[in-house]
Amino acid sequence: MDISDAYFETPIGNAFLDYFTANGFAVARGLLEPGLIAAIEGLIRDGYTSLKAEFAAKEAAEAAPPVLGMSKVLLKRLKASEAYDQMMAHGPFLDVIERFIGPDIMVYNNCDLFINDPVDTNPATLKTLHQETWTGLAVHEIVTWIPLHPPAADNTICVVPKSHLFGMMPNRNRNLLPIEGFTPEPVVPVWQMERGDVLFFHPLLLHGTSGRGALRFSLGFAFKNAYLEATSVNTPWGYTGLRQGPMTRVRTILGNDLLTPLRTYGGKTSNAQNYVPPR
Ligand SMILES: [Fe+2]
Repeated sequence: MDISDAYFETPIGNAFLDYFTANGFAVARGLLEPGLIAAIEGLIRDGYTSLKAEFAAKEAAEAAPPVLGMSKVLLKRLKASEAYDQMMAHGPFLDVIERFIGPDIMVYNNCDLFINDPVDTNPATLKTLHQETWTGLAVHEIVTWIPLHPPAADNTICVVPKSHLFGMMPNRNRNLLPIEGFTPEPVVPVWQMERGDVLFFHPLLLHGTSGRGALRFSLGFAFKNAYLEATSVNTPWGYTGLRQGPMTRVRTILGNDLLTPLRTYGGKTSNAQNYVPPR
C-alpha cells in the first residue's frame, strides 16, 4: 500500500481524521516545534553516549549494553526537563489530541523512549507485530509515536494499514497467531518523517519495528480522556492532566462534586485565580 497520503500538513481538518478512521494511523506534519525536538534529541543522544561509555569502561568489550535499562534512565531525565513540559503544553499538539479523545486530556505516566541500536540484541526493542491493547491500552485511547530525528525505512515503526478494524488479534507469548483463511495486508514502514512530525495510531493497529538500521531515537505516549476508565495495567502508574475542557473548568470553579450552594457567590471563584495556567 502506498501511504504517501498518510502525511497531513493540516491535521486539524476532517481529512486527517477520516484517513485515521479508515487506516488506523495518520502523520501530523510539523505538529511539534522542530527546534524543541532537536533539543530533546540532543539531551537523549548525549546521555546515551555517556551511559554507553560508562558501561564500556566497566564491562567486557563484547558485552551488549542494556539499552532498555538505559532508555528508562534517560526517559526519567527527560520527564524532569523543561523541554518535556514544553512539549506536553504545546497548544497545537493538544488541539489534535482533543480531536480524538475530547478536551479533558491526560497522558499516561507509563510512556516510552525507544532506542533502536544495531548493537542491541534484546527482542523487546525489535518488536514483532503487536497491538497496544495486548499490553494494556484501552480502545478509547490514542497513541503517538514521535521520532527525534528523521528515521529510515529499516529502523522505523511499521504498521499494517486498516488492521485496527480486525479487532483484538490472537497472540501467544507476544507473537501474533495465524487465523485460518485470513492474511493481513502487507506491513508498511512509516519513515518519511521529520523532526516535529507525530504519528497518531489506534491501540488496535498492528505495528512493530521495521529493523535495526542506524541508531534511532523516538518517544511513545498514550493519551486518555480524563473521565474514561484506565486499564489495570496503566492505573497503578497514574497519569498527568494536560488540558481541561470548559465543562470541567466550570466544575472546578464550583469547587466540589456536591455543588455546595453559593460556595463562591460574591467572592473569588477559585482559590487559584491569580494562577495563570501555561495553556
Ligand atoms: Fe507498540
